[in-house]
Amino acid sequence: MTLNNNSSTINESVIGLDGPLVINIILSIIGFFVTVRIIPLFGGLFIQAGLSGKDLNKPLPAKGKEAKQVPEALGVICGAMFLIIMFIFIPFPFGKKWFENDANKFPHNEFVEFIVALLSICCMIFLGFADDVLNLKWRHKLWLPTMATLPLLMVYMVNFGSTTVVLPKPFTQYIGTSVDLRFMYYVYMGMLGVFCTNAINILAGINGIEAGQSLVIGLSIVVFNCYELYGSWPSAHRFSLYFMLPYCAVCAGLLYHNWYPSRVFVGDTFCYFSGMTFAVVAILGHFSKTVLLFFIPQIVNFLYSVPQLFHFVPCPRHRLPSFNEKTNKLEMSCTRFRLDNLNIIGRLIVRLLRLLHLIHVVDNVGEDKKEIQVNNFTIINFVLKLVGPTHEQTLTVYLLLIQVLCSVGAFIIRYQLARLFYDVVD
Ligand code: UD1
Ligand code: MG
Repeated sequence: MTLNNNSSTINESVIGLDGPLVINIILSIIGFFVTVRIIPLFGGLFIQAGLSGKDLNKPLPAKGKEAKQVPEALGVICGAMFLIIMFIFIPFPFGKKWFENDANKFPHNEFVEFIVALLSICCMIFLGFADDVLNLKWRHKLWLPTMATLPLLMVYMVNFGSTTVVLPKPFTQYIGTSVDLRFMYYVYMGMLGVFCTNAINILAGINGIEAGQSLVIGLSIVVFNCYELYGSWPSAHRFSLYFMLPYCAVCAGLLYHNWYPSRVFVGDTFCYFSGMTFAVVAILGHFSKTVLLFFIPQIVNFLYSVPQLFHFVPCPRHRLPSFNEKTNKLEMSCTRFRLDNLNIIGRLIVRLLRLLHLIHVVDNVGEDKKEIQVNNFTIINFVLKLVGPTHEQTLTVYLLLIQVLCSVGAFIIRYQLARLFYDVVD
């Protein structure tokens, strides 16, 4: 873990008072109730506009009846609510200095950071919504967060500019205590945006999982910020709290409607909005490695998914579990293919994962009995492989429990293990 003892991003004298934080909390609480109230009001409009989808894990409708349409992309309402809270909030941390009427004293740098953070999030909500409406291809989706992080990186470069990372103790005798990554540091931060947004989007497909995992990550960051607020470097954590509290509030409001049985789907808009908000606080708060620790399930899911994402193994449009109407439970969803149709890397991956019991394989299937059947490579299916067929709501609870346990593990790594490798823990 890299340690950073640089000066804070937000001037403490400006936001050292508890006033703005109290106002932020009040606005967040109001934001939660407004989100809960308005989401159902927009549902019908979204269906009318063609923004809806079928819940694939529910019983088929009776003969002659149409499957129920669930409004999709309601994350945009949640994102808009977040922006409204933040826009109303802007004067509070900065107003005092402004009214002192001394232009030299006004923290322009911090103000720009605040505004550009909102610009990046706003841009990501817009691009995410475009994705929901236009159903963009995966190769295009990867570019969206990269573009949305550019303003943020620009401000980081002008305001802060440090690209030095502290090295862990074992390396210090060979390379020195720190290393300047220069351009690579910006590439890393840009990739953080791409990773956070897409990692949430691919751990998806059962009611409540996208909003649920995001809420657990958001609350973990809040706990981390509160703990650090009393430490040696509070201002960046206060800045993060200003973003994370309203975020958690609107996310909880959305989860209320997205929980089993979902009345709304969050859409890619929500995944992008969430990932970008986490990336923004991680970059401007200088705790990106800690945020990545809260993403352990998403990192594992991404690594497990790599063979399908990069098409070494066939990847169907949907990898969410399949619904068994007789038992009303979810089972692993599977993909069939001929092993000799894969390239050498694909064959090696399947053999290795099979050897390690990380995938469920059925041999000799298909008409000519020459195909094999493997489960889709997501941790949702992997949990089903471990526990067997499970009710959708129970499965969501299991996965959220894993997320919570991983956050507890992340805190242990952050505060205990990090001491073994670094002299100072920021
Ligand atoms: C990602 C996943 C895909 C997964 C999908 C589910 C990858 C590469 N892509 O694709 O495997 O199936 O998310 O969101 O891993 N849906 C439900 N129940 C839910 C949530 C979604 O049935 O609780 C279905 C609905 O039909 C909804 C659709 O999934 O319309 C939304 O899928 P979308 O977000 O467009 O899929 P991707 O993000 O492209
Ligand atoms: Mg999606």
